[in-house]
Order: sequence, then structure tokens, then C-alpha cells
Amino acid sequence: MESPQSPTERDLDALNKAGAIIRAGGLVAFPTETVYGLGANALDSDAVPKIFAAKGRPGDNPLIVHIAAPQNAGKYVLTTPLYDRLAEKFMPGPISIIMRRRECIPDCVTAKLDTAAVRCPSHPTAHAFIEAAGVPIAAPSANLSGKPSPTTAAHVLEDMDGRVDLIIDGGECECGVESTVVKLDGDSLTVLRPGSVTPEMLMAVTERVSVSGAVTSQLREGEKALSPGMKYKHYAPTTPVILLDGSIDGVAAYLAERAAAEKCAVLCYDGENVPNGVQKLVIGAHSDPSQQAHRLFSLLREADTLGVDVIYAHLPDTGGVSLALYNRMIRAAAYKILKVT
Ligand code: TXA
Ligand code: MG
Repeated sequence: MESPQSPTERDLDALNKAGAIIRAGGLVAFPTETVYGLGANALDSDAVPKIFAAKGRPGDNPLIVHIAAPQNAGKYVLTTPLYDRLAEKFMPGPISIIMRRRECIPDCVTAKLDTAAVRCPSHPTAHAFIEAAGVPIAAPSANLSGKPSPTTAAHVLEDMDGRVDLIIDGGECECGVESTVVKLDGDSLTVLRPGSVTPEMLMAVTERVSVSGAVTSQLREGEKALSPGMKYKHYAPTTPVILLDGSIDGVAAYLAERAAAEKCAVLCYDGENVPNGVQKLVIGAHSDPSQQAHRLFSLLREADTLGVDVIYAHLPDTGGVSLALYNRMIRAAAYKILKVT
């Protein structure tokens, strides 16, 4: 995919309008390198609740504060030496970093937690938009709560038509899955949500990297989520999704059996043989999890338009960028995983 272009003069005019909407307390959907965001002025406690209303988002799920430059973080959170090292290596880019927050960030942004997440997007339009607004932007993904995150402006329109003041169209998002969310504690960090910045990449900055249990498994009844967002059903199309854990041949044999009994589709790899009667949605090369991540949410939305009874997909492995796919797909499937041989 081509990298997004820097905004032209005409775009800057539109971005200035977007900035004015934000300063007046409105909502603007904007592209980032991960997914589209639904932004409001993070310092305006009248504007931020409009985000929760537009998405149908529970008020106990905190928002990420988007900034134009990594060095701006200190105005909103208490940065640490580990933050500086992570920022140096990964910002601007697809990472959100949780630290203790300062008073200026309203309770509605952080769901009353004493921490806040900051993120500096690398997408040139996102950058220009935050600059034009002149304030930090609180933004979740621009989908209705529970739906797959939007990776095109058309997805945003599908979910948010009539609920936002403006949608900025910046084409397809490059990563396709949301940012890696990490929480800092001294020289250690915990990955709360995996993304394109992988635990292996973070290990180059500090050896003290752990991955929260909620990333790969379901929270038990009554267990507290470190990241409130991880406890909600997410990313789910209306059609049920089932993950198949087994070899490519095992999956093909299982699908051949099911095709006789139900209308089904499968998220399959490039060049994979799929039995007759099963609709194919090609997610990308087996060896290229970044490409699969780029297409995942878009395919989950498309799968819902096929009129099938069930959507099957391969269970991803848990190394590198695949961990992000694994995390999103087990939620899309409501943790339904079938072993096939
Ligand atoms: O890539 C992204 O991160 C996109 C783009 C728009 O930047 N944003 C996004 O936001 O995915 P959202 O709200 O859909 O997901 C934010 C996640 C949620 O799971 C939330 O619970 C968690 O980050 N989070 C935010 N602030 C937190 C905090 N202070 N402590 C723990 N978790 C936090
Ligand atoms: Mg979201």
C-alpha cells in the first residue's frame, strides 16, 4: 500500500475547518495509521461525553489522548525515562502509552482512573488535524461500540452518519488494527492491547516487558480488566465467527463437511484451496501477518453482507504482529475456537 500523502493547500483549508469544529466543542472523525478515530477536544468536559453518546460507549472505558509531538505528553501525563526511550523509538507511530495523568485531563477522558494514555499518530493527516485543532484530541476508534474498528471513511459513515460533525477521508488505514497499548511502571511495561508495535520490538527498549493475560484469554467472571476496553465484546460482525485451530488440510476437510449443512464463508490465505460452496474472503499471505491485520476489520464488515450463517477463520499464532490478530479474532469469535485435525 502507498504511504498517505502530506495534506495539500486545499486539504489544509479543510483541516482548519475541522480544527474550528473541535475548538467549538464538536466531533470530527479522522484517519490515522491504525484505524479511524472519533475526536473531540480532550480538555473540554462538555465535548468529550458526545463521543460516548455517538458510539454508545460505556462511560467506564477511557479514551486515548492524541498529541501532535511526543514531547507534548508532559503537559498531560507524568512522563518517565522509559517513556522518553519508547517515544524516541516508536513515536510518531502506532503505540499508546499509559502513565499517571495530570489534573488538566478531565475525568470523563480517563473514566476517573489516575492514569491516561497518550498517542502521537504518524499519519500526516492526523498530525495536521491535531496541529490545526491546537488542543490534544481525545479519540476512540470511530465505530459504534462492539463493531469492527473502521479502516476507511466509508466504514465511519456506515456507523456514524448523522452522529458526527465532520468525517475527514484519508483513504485506507495502513496498519488496520488499533495501536499497541502499554502501561508503564518504572522500568517495566505491560502490553494491555497488542498492535503493530510487537512485544518483541518493545524488548529492544526494555527487557521488562510482560503481556497482560487478558490479551490472549477471556477474563473470568468478576476479574478486573487492567484495560477496561478489553472486557467488552468487540470487533464482532453480526454473523457468528468461529476460529479453526488446525492445519490448512484439517481446515479444508472440516469446511467441506460444513458446506453441505450451512451457508458459510472463510477468511482464508492467498492461494488456499477452499471447498466448493464455501465463500472465500482472502485475508492475505499466510507469511504476512501485517497484510492480514491491514484487511481484517474490512473483511469482517464485508462478511456481514454475504448472507452466510457462519464465518470461519484460521486461529492465528501468537508471535509478532500475529498476536494482534489473535487478540482481535478471539473477541470477534466470542472465544469460540474449534480444534480440527
Ligand atoms: O489506534 C488506536 O489506538 C485508535 C486510534 C483512533 O488512535 N484508538 C483506539 O481507541 O483504538 P479505543 O478507545 O477504541 O481503544 C483504547 C483502548 C481501550 O481498550 C481502553 O480501555 C484503553 O485503550 N485505555 C485507554 N486509556 C487507558 C488507561 N488510562 N488505562 C487503561 N486502559 C486504557
Ligand atoms: Mg475501539
